[in-house]
Amino acid sequence: MNSKKLAGQVALVTGGARGLGRGYALRLAALGADIAVVDRDLKSYEVYEFEKRQMTGSTVVEECRALGVKAVGLEADLTDRAAAGKAVKDVVRKMGRIDIVVCNAGGGTVKFADELEEGETGPERTGESGPGDIVTTGSAADCPQEALARVLDINLMTCMYTCMAVAPYLKDQRSGKIVTVSSSAGLSSNYTYHPYGTAKAAIIHYTRALAQELAPYNINVNCIAPAIIRTGRLGDRSHLAARIPMGREGTIEDCAKVVEFLVTDLSDYVTGQTISVSGGFDDTP
Ligand SMILES: NC(=O)c1ccc[n+]([C@@H]2O[C@H](COP(=O)([O-])OP(=O)(O)OC[C@H]3O[C@@H](n4cnc5c(N)ncnc54)[C@H](O)[C@@H]3O)[C@@H](O)[C@H]2O)c1
Repeated sequence: MNSKKLAGQVALVTGGARGLGRGYALRLAALGADIAVVDRDLKSYEVYEFEKRQMTGSTVVEECRALGVKAVGLEADLTDRAAAGKAVKDVVRKMGRIDIVVCNAGGGTVKFADELEEGETGPERTGESGPGDIVTTGSAADCPQEALARVLDINLMTCMYTCMAVAPYLKDQRSGKIVTVSSSAGLSSNYTYHPYGTAKAAIIHYTRALAQELAPYNINVNCIAPAIIRTGRLGDRSHLAARIPMGREGTIEDCAKVVEFLVTDLSDYVTGQTISVSGGFDDTP
């Protein structure tokens, strides 16, 4: 079997500068895809020791090139629809086409560590064992406007703007694979309310709607919903392992394997679906 099964294809990964997005970019590059990473900060990994330790180049773009593929990086804030459209256009101009899109940009329930001003501290600037960026703000009946706007923009709107920007290109070529990113928080309301869960649930609905619209064009749209996955932003949550039937936190590779399934021919007849990547963690509604 050809291990470079994505050779000749171009994959766009949003939020790919660190964490899960970087893992997806590296996995797809290892499968032979040329890579375009769009992130608001291509060096966003610098604020977390956990992320810095993983790096083998100055950016993920350099790391992908070291795997023998063409790779470009673009900085853009995807909460801005015009910026998302421009970034996608630039990727097509530089790479010639787009075949695969992973709409991974998201998270950020409070300010990202790299957004903090000098001297400003926030719950997200934690060490290796801190609670990380999992702050709950407001309630379903009363959520501050700032938290609502920020969390919906960063998670839902970045995903929708990216999908809307790539759709015309994929439709023209009558092929494509889109992966959106939800969360166990979007599948379940068992835990404290957060607009993050609402945004991630909306992504599941949007995925189904987009899949129906794009299916006649031979474009698959599916979603992954990670649960407790170790990244720098979220810190060490191994203390939650006892609540996970598989007895451990998930890894970036656990998610990247599912993305591989969703962007290769293994999933050609799968569309509009959401796959929970949770080790069996309770994500019932
Ligand atoms: N880590 C987990 O346990 C977990 C669980 C469920 C879902 N997720 C989802 O997976 C995705 C990645 O999570 P992560 O833990 O790797 O997060 P992360 O914060 O480490 O990485 C997110 C990346 O997205 C970029 N980004 C954020 N907002 C952006 C914007 N407006 N425009 C462009 N780039 C932007 C950031 O700069 C960063 O590089 C997110 O959508 C998150 O909600 C993560």
